[in-house]
Amino acid sequence: MNKALRPAVIAGNWKMNKTPEETGALIKEIAPLTENAACEVVVCVPFVDLHAALTATGGTSIKVGAQNCHFEASGAFTGEISAPMLKSIGVEYVIIGHSERRAYFGETDITVQKRTRAALDAGLTVIVCVGETLEQREQGITRELCALQSKIALQGVKSDELGRIVIAYEPVWAIGTGRTATADQAEEVCGWIRDTLAELYGRESADGVSIQYGGSMNAANAYELLSKPNVDGGLIGGASLKAKDFAEIVKATNR
Ligand code: PGA
Repeated sequence: MNKALRPAVIAGNWKMNKTPEETGALIKEIAPLTENAACEVVVCVPFVDLHAALTATGGTSIKVGAQNCHFEASGAFTGEISAPMLKSIGVEYVIIGHSERRAYFGETDITVQKRTRAALDAGLTVIVCVGETLEQREQGITRELCALQSKIALQGVKSDELGRIVIAYEPVWAIGTGRTATADQAEEVCGWIRDTLAELYGRESADGVSIQYGGSMNAANAYELLSKPNVDGGLIGGASLKAKDFAEIVKATNR
């Protein structure tokens, strides 16, 4: 089974939620519930919570991620945080190109490519988000769009760096809406994304890349979504803020 060739990654995207104190408390709740996880467990927290998250995850197998990084290492970029800065404090993951950043903060395919490159150069693992809006789905351009977003993001990424790339398929219409893609819809697009990776790097390399589904994944629908052959993990928003729900999704990767 190809799924055995790649790690499942369940990542919580906490978005703009939780203070450092609340971060420590939530991780202390999550840690015992995910102790024997069959997958990689990641919490992607706001910048100010990174230190608290790193402290609270000490001695556990939970990894800490950020939700963005700038593409320059340092300089006159007021309000930004660089990839080497994240790496220097012990952060291992970073989410790049989340649809909220694309929609509200002027993120483009080109800046996603630049941030991905910078994050890889700093030694981070990158969760690259791609996905279509409802309008684009109805236009029938989901496949082309996700292929293009993936190809641009991965421009300049070498095949020996793919072990530090996770692709998150996040249909924009399913994020924070309570509306989930059906397991078949998720599988179809994750399969297309893998075909794109195969086009770029060959089938064997593509089979080694972990692809997540994101968009209202929760404790109730995770089992079905994660049972699909091309859906390896999840990028979880709302449900990642509830320890029990998040742990249930982690359990659903047991295969
Ligand atoms: P959601 O968010 O699970 O709350 O829909 C997913 C995401 O934005 O990564």
